[in-house]
Formats: sequence, structure tokens, C-alpha cells
Amino acid sequence: MSIIKTIDLTKRFKDLIAVDHLNLSINDGEIFGLLGPNGAGKTTAVLMLSTVIKPTHGTAIVGEYDIRKHPDDVRKLIGICFQEPKLLWVSTPWDVLNWHAKVCGLSTRERKRRVKQVLEDVNMWDDRRKKVHGLSGGMKKRVEVAKILIQRPKIAFIDEPTAQIDVVGKHKIWNMIRELRDEGSTIILATNELFEADMLSDRVGIMHKGKMLVCDTPKTLKDSILGGDIIDVQLEKEVNGNAIEELKSFREVVDVVMLKPNDLKIHLNKVEEVVPQIVNLFLKNGFPISSIRMSEPSLDDVFVHYTGLTIEEAEQEITSR
Ligand SMILES: Nc1ncnc2c1ncn2[C@@H]1O[C@H](COP(=O)(O)OP(=O)(O)OP(=O)(O)O)[C@@H](O)[C@H]1O
Ligand SMILES: [Mg+2]
Repeated sequence: MSIIKTIDLTKRFKDLIAVDHLNLSINDGEIFGLLGPNGAGKTTAVLMLSTVIKPTHGTAIVGEYDIRKHPDDVRKLIGICFQEPKLLWVSTPWDVLNWHAKVCGLSTRERKRRVKQVLEDVNMWDDRRKKVHGLSGGMKKRVEVAKILIQRPKIAFIDEPTAQIDVVGKHKIWNMIRELRDEGSTIILATNELFEADMLSDRVGIMHKGKMLVCDTPKTLKDSILGGDIIDVQLEKEVNGNAIEELKSFREVVDVVMLKPNDLKIHLNKVEEVVPQIVNLFLKNGFPISSIRMSEPSLDDVFVHYTGLTIEEAEQEITSR
């Protein structure tokens, strides 16, 4: 059953369309990963759904409320972990969370218990009395994530929760987001980290230039790429068209993507049978191999498949828009 439904949701900033006729349905109780490169429109979509900014066209139903007509009712259902935490610089992590718990209506006893618990969970208990202006970027982000863990809203918008956070912290936060989902919250996770989206999401929607390109479970998205296997080959020099044509003539080879002139990604079937012949082809044509790696498709490959670009190239394209 869907808990969020967007209807041609659009945001225009002057002549830039940040979110372009988004039609999306998010299921009750799922972690929905909104994945896309910098500038794809993820934060703009999240800010519209959470009633922080207004759409220029279209709308969305959140819970049972229209974000345009009943923003106050929507706000009662949701919590937001902002990409850019806005914390008063003289506050301390403890003040911020205690105040947040108060606003969420927790009793004094429950507030004390939960604030302590959550500060410990995000590893900020020892730093609870430091002024916000003295916290690192990762620490501020931990406090921002902690706010949503205190609130435990029905619908949680979490924008780049682990940007600037170290690997151990990332895994802890991922577990806490899963626990929140398991307790019944629906989570909309905006991220540009493919691995994070893959690890956490029940379904992923890939956004690029304001549009939703594709949306499904990570497994279905990966399986949708023709040729279940991938070989990444780096050559010591730039490859030529003849070698590529010869490669494409293999029955097992489905697609060859040239990431750089000496860096190829080959999508194929039956990799174990055909890899010796592929190695031979490069050597015979005078292209020594500097590295070769076989793998299953990842969400990176899904992104390349649908956009023809790596996520880094897509970011460069967007920033030069
Ligand atoms: N207030 C604003 N005024 C003008 N342009 C804006 C504004 N907010 C966002 N944009 C533009 O809209 C586009 C989408 O931005 P948005 O922040 O939604 O992307 P994002 O997918 O969240 O990127 P990131 O991964 O960097 O967080 C960008 O080109 C951005 O410059
Ligand atoms: Mg963003």
C-alpha cells in the first residue's frame, strides 16, 4: 500500500527544472532509496514532500494529505534529517536533542532516557556538552540523524545520513535506519552513494537531471541489465575500433561500454567460458592488459546502463548545466 504518491511533482528555479514531473509511489513501511548524482534533484524532492518548499507544478499525497492543501497535517506525520544540519551554534548536542524530544511531546522521564540512549547510539555521549560550533561536520551530522531517532516519525526523510561519517559510524547508522523501518516507519533515503542505496533500500529510484529514470528493487534493477556478468578491463594503451568490433562479435558479449579509451566494461554471459578468449583477443591485437576484474552488476552499472554515464560523469554534466 502506498503512503506517498507524487503527481507530476515539479520544482523550477528560474530556468532550471530541479525536479521534473515526478510520478512516484512509495510503499508503507519500506526504505525507499532516492539515488542520484549531485544536483539530480533529490533534496529538492525531499524538501517538497516534507512541505519545506512548495512545488511549482503538480503535487503529492503524503499519508492521506495533499502537501499543497494540508501541509500542517503532513508535518504531523513526518520527520526530516536535513542534508545541511542547521543547528544553533551556541547549543550543545544534548540541548538540541532534549529540545527536539520536548517538541515531539515526550514526557520528562522518557525524554531523559531516550536522549541518553540515542546520544550513545550515535557515539556522541562524550561530546554532549560541546558547543555545536566546535563540532566536526561528521559530528553535526550525527546529531541531525539522532533527531530522527528520537522522534521515530511515521515517515522519515533522511537526506545523505552518512556523508562525512566514518565507516564504523556508517554501519551503525545503517543499522539504526533498518531498525526504524522494522518498527514501522517508512523511510525515504536520499543518497548519492550507490553502495549505501544498495545496502539499505527495499526499492531504489534513480534520479538524473530532475527525472526518475527507473525504480525497482536493487536486485531487479541489477538483473535488468542484459548480460548477467561483467568484466572490467584496463589496458596499457588506448584500444582501437577493430578490437572492440571483434569483442562485440562474441556471441556471449552483450554490450561494451568504453569508460575511458583504455578502460572497458564488458557485459556478457558465461564469463567463465569466454574470458580466456577475451584475454587472448587483446594480447593478439597488441593491447597488454594492466588489470582485469570479473563481477556481478552493481547499481553503478545500472546507472551507467540507463544514463550512458558513470555517476561521476553525470555529476560533472550537471554542475556544468
Ligand atoms: N534554492 C535553490 N535555488 C536555485 N537552484 C537550486 C536551489 N536548490 C537547488 N537548486 C538546483 O537544483 C538542482 C537540484 O539540486 P538538489 O539539491 O535537489 O540536488 P541533489 O540531488 O540533492 O544533489 P546532492 O547530491 O548534491 O545533494 C541543482 O542544479 C541545484 O543547483
Ligand atoms: Mg541533496
